[in-house]
Amino acid sequence: MKTVHIVADLRAATRAWRAAGARIAFVPTMGNLHAGHVKLITEARARADKVVVSVFVNPLQFGPSEDFDKYPRTLAEDTAKLEAAGADLLFAPSVAEMYPAGREAQTTVTVPGLSDILDGEFRPGHFAGVATVVAKLFGQVQPDVALFGEKDYQQLLVIRRLVADLALPIEILGIPTVREPDGLAMSSRNQYLSPVERAQAASIYRVLGAAAEALRAGRAAAAVEAEGTQALRSAGFRPDYVAVRRAEDLGPPSPGAALIVLAAAWLGKARLIDNLKV
Ligand code: PAF
Repeated sequence: MKTVHIVADLRAATRAWRAAGARIAFVPTMGNLHAGHVKLITEARARADKVVVSVFVNPLQFGPSEDFDKYPRTLAEDTAKLEAAGADLLFAPSVAEMYPAGREAQTTVTVPGLSDILDGEFRPGHFAGVATVVAKLFGQVQPDVALFGEKDYQQLLVIRRLVADLALPIEILGIPTVREPDGLAMSSRNQYLSPVERAQAASIYRVLGAAAEALRAGRAAAAVEAEGTQALRSAGFRPDYVAVRRAEDLGPPSPGAALIVLAAAWLGKARLIDNLKV
């Protein structure tokens, strides 16, 4: 696997592949790779001739009081994991390479509506940061297909919408969440949990499971949300939301529509998000 840090080198590598007719898959990450990322890379491998992975902790998607500074940066370990997973190219740019005009002074991409609800309400500007960096990475890598984890379900829908609205010729694939044996969704932020919190953390998955079960049994969405929120509180979380939405577009539940339950909640210093389709 080759590692490049500047866009010109990335373009040189991908141009040669494209000229040879290779199909290129892309997995954008913020690094600190775990089994969830490895699954994205394995799925990418199965769908393309070449796999490009980016590792970039994107300052644009962190709020002023969020964890940008302490977000784990583990490029040496990530490189070894990517080699083992069969990636062909690692793109690990600096902030200056990605935002040469400065992070404030550049074109931004916003996906209105979808970006303003649920996580967007609790993390203002987050999805504009995600959409901007992903649009930029798409322009740099020019992949045929890009893969994202379903754990960040709202992010996945924001990116699908961005690609549709900007008519980008990129197939977007959502890959099911990889979980720890007790059900906790894999996330780089799980390492912010103390051992005691880690033992409690899978409650979020159990609460979502109970909510999905209640909805299948015909219980009203509002009651399920209230009960889920209370169950998270009882398990020691500080919930931001438990929400029942249409899986297609995160709109309010409507008759016959496939549903998803989403939750975001703090446990100590970690903000965990998870979701379950009904
Ligand atoms: O999901 C992530 O790791 C990030 O939000 C992404 C998509 C790499 C953009 O920075």
